Amino acid sequence: MNGSTETASRSAPEGVPRHVAIIMDGNGRWAESRGLPRAEGHRRGLDALRRTIQAARELGIGYLTVYSFSSENWRRPPAEVSALLMLLRRFIRADTADMHAKNVRIRFIGDRTGLAEDILSLFAESELLTEANTGLTLLIAFNYGSRDEIVRAAVQAARDVAEGRLPIEALDDAALSARLDTAGIPDPDLVIRTSGEMRLSNFLLWQAAYAEFVFSPVRWPEFERRDLEDAIDEYRRRDRRYGGLTVVGAQP
Ligand code: FPP
Repeated sequence: MNGSTETASRSAPEGVPRHVAIIMDGNGRWAESRGLPRAEGHRRGLDALRRTIQAARELGIGYLTVYSFSSENWRRPPAEVSALLMLLRRFIRADTADMHAKNVRIRFIGDRTGLAEDILSLFAESELLTEANTGLTLLIAFNYGSRDEIVRAAVQAARDVAEGRLPIEALDDAALSARLDTAGIPDPDLVIRTSGEMRLSNFLLWQAAYAEFVFSPVRWPEFERRDLEDAIDEYRRRDRRYGGLTVVGAQP
């Protein structure tokens, strides 16, 4: 990976966060409050995701990361897990060509161990097809848990030290970052969680160290471009200091 080239080539317009990460919460409650099955909430959530990808492109956001399935979501009832897997497959099959035509680069983060072969193939095909694209980078967090990701990176770093590829003195922040699923991707500037919950739920714990958080009351299936714009307006009003005293445009 080459972090500096990566980040230099995908800067966002003035005032727009370069990387927005979203916890797409509230699908189930949206459905239940209408007497609909929870799966219908997820289906409508996929429509909201499509709208958000389009809005992110138009606003000039460089990176959009979405939490589509956590490593803990396997504990949900089997029918709901099946519905989410079906939506994932449908989304990749139906939307990859269109996203490729729109210069979107697709990447998946999360643990791939034990995922169905056809899903692994869909991941690999859409990543390969879109890897040279230079527009929006869409990161889909699937079977993702931040602690799991950090542990996998730590194990890899330990292996690299033990096998002589990494001097122990070189094991620093950057060396660990380079072993995360998000290697080469700049940290999120803005993390949005919908539906009024105010938790990080094991999402990008390392990467969000200096992110701004915006909690929207809107349930994910109803999330519109104007809600994204509101979150960005809120982000613009924040004073990002990265632990120091400077205000404008600083990066750690
Ligand atoms: C959280 O809402 C949302 C999820 C667990 C799934 C998110 C999935 C989508 C938006 C659509 C599918 C997209 C892909 C790429 C597969 P919740 O069900 O926990 O809502 P609740 O808290 O109201 O129950």
